[in-house]
This record gives sequence, structure tokens and C-alpha cells, in this order.
Amino acid sequence: MRKQTLEGAQPARRSSDPTGSPPVADGPAAASTAHLSARNVRIEYRAPSESASDVTLAVDNANLELQRSDFVCIVGPSGCGKTTFLNAVAGFLPIQGGNLELDGRDIPGPGPDRAMVFQQASLLPWRKVIDNVTYGLELGRTMKKAQARERARELLDLVGLSGFGDRYPAQLSGGMQQRVNLARALAVEPELLLLDEPFASIDAQTRETMQAELLRVCAARDVTALFVTHDITEAAFLADRVCVFSPRPGHIVREVVVPFDRPRDQRLRRSPEFLALVDEIAETLYGGTDPTAGEVIH
Ligand SMILES: Nc1ncnc2c1ncn2[C@@H]1O[C@H](COP(=O)(O)OP(=O)(O)OP(=O)(O)O)[C@@H](O)[C@H]1O
Ligand SMILES: [Mg+2]
Repeated sequence: MRKQTLEGAQPARRSSDPTGSPPVADGPAAASTAHLSARNVRIEYRAPSESASDVTLAVDNANLELQRSDFVCIVGPSGCGKTTFLNAVAGFLPIQGGNLELDGRDIPGPGPDRAMVFQQASLLPWRKVIDNVTYGLELGRTMKKAQARERARELLDLVGLSGFGDRYPAQLSGGMQQRVNLARALAVEPELLLLDEPFASIDAQTRETMQAELLRVCAARDVTALFVTHDITEAAFLADRVCVFSPRPGHIVREVVVPFDRPRDQRLRRSPEFLALVDEIAETLYGGTDPTAGEVIH
């Protein structure tokens, strides 16, 4: 388990990669064991007419690697292809070029090894909270009902919703509904958790609490996570690495290694090192950096 001390917080170090090869934080040995590997990924949207003018190139030449237990955040301008990339990893969208592999195998479509948490709470309003959490297990039909409910209760405890299983979604706040979404995603015990701006519609204070809880839950379950956000502070607080996407067609122009130990607590946000890192990421995102540079900060 990674340990956090504020004393352990260090400023980001930089290094350049003049070859433009995919940014890999842990050196060449990591490539062969990557849990998720994206190499030169290209994703297009094609209108039914298939005329050339109806093609939107959303992602092009995207390179990314995740090892097991990594927590990687993606930030980037609106419309740059973040959700598109996440949907391809989830298996909801095909890719048109490059390689996108999980444990060395192409992604054929959605599977129980991946779970997505969306921006808006997407609970079934007619089902009680606990029945929302067991929903994925029912679809998978791999578990008896009593066992599924037991697991759901454990997860509701884990996300801080003990005793709320018999409520309906409408009886919960937005933040509580997002916790149910997280519990539902974790119920199928995914190897890779995909989160698309899951806290974007939650107020700032609740969001900070949710971020800390997400870190706690991921550590408790040893989850690998790919998390999309517009909030740089959120990305720096959560991630081992923050990947900055270029404007569309999206690709990763810079990968920032977050050097702070875990577990992280709220005081980290106020440390000068943390604020400097946030500034560094913001500079990359908004500061007119050459999007073809392919630089990695360590
Ligand atoms: N279903 C679709 N059909 C056609 N084009 C699409 C579709 N979905 C997205 N796009 C286009 O693909 C590009 C990338 O969209 P995407 O939703 O991936 O962006 P994003 O980075 O997630 O943006 P945001 O930060 O605003 O959520 C945009 O130009 C968008 O218009
Ligand atoms: Mg999006």
C-alpha cells in the first residue's frame, strides 16, 4: 500500500521524450505487462451517409498505458475526445486504427471486467438502492440473490451509505446517488473502473469528500481506474498520473506523474507542492503548449 505523508510531497520533475513515443512512467519494462495499452488509437464517428464530410475524427494517435492498480486521470478541452476514448475502452465504440488492448488482447466489446461510472447518476428510479447495486450481478447471473444482496450491503457500507439500501434513488441527494453508482460499478468486481466526470454535477464540498472516498474505496479493492475530469485539482488529488489531451482529434500531449504518497488527505490540497503541480498541468492545458511535443513530466 502506498503511504502518504505531507512531508513526502515533492515537486514534479520533468523529462522530455524527443522520440514522441508513448509516455510510460515506469520505464520500458512496464510495456509488456500493461493492463490497458493504447497504441496510436484512432476513433471516428461516421454519419450513416458515409460521405467523407460526415466523418468526425475524434481521437487520433492516442497512446496510453495503465498497469494494474494505476489511477490515471485524463484532462483536456471540451470536445477533444475524452469520453470517446473511454467509451472505446469500455467496448461501446470500435476503433478505426491502432491497437487498444486489455492484458494483451483486443477489446471485443463491453465485458464484466470493466465498469463505467457516468457523469449523471444513472440509477433505475423504480428500484431500491440495494436493487440498483445488485442490478449488474443479476444481469451476469453468476451469483445467488442472497449473496448478491450481501455484497451490495458491503459496498453500500464502503461508500458510506449503510442503512440506505431500502430507499429509492429520488430519496437521496445527488452525491449519495453518485455513491450508489460507484457501488453498482464495483459490485461486478471490475478489473478496470472507468469514470467519466462522475462528480461534475456535485457541489464543491461534497466533491472533495467523494474524491477522498473514491481513493479509499479504490485502495480497499485494489482497483485500476481511468478517470476523466475537467477539474485539474481533482485530477492531481486522485491520480498517479495525469494525462493531458490535445484539442480534437485528441491524443495525449503530456503525461504528468503525481509524486504524492498515499493515502492522501485533504491537507495535501493546500501544500505548495500540490499547488505547483496543479499550476503545471494548467499551463499545459491552457498555456498554448505545442500539442505535438509529446513531453512527459516526472
Ligand atoms: N455520437 C457521436 N456522433 C458524432 N460525433 C460525435 C459523437 N459523440 C461525440 N462526437 C464528437 O466527437 C468529438 C469528441 O467528443 P467527446 O464527447 O469524446 O468529447 P469530450 O472530450 O468528452 O468532451 P467534454 O469534455 O465536453 O465531455 C466532438 O467533436 C463530438 O462532437
Ligand atoms: Mg465527455
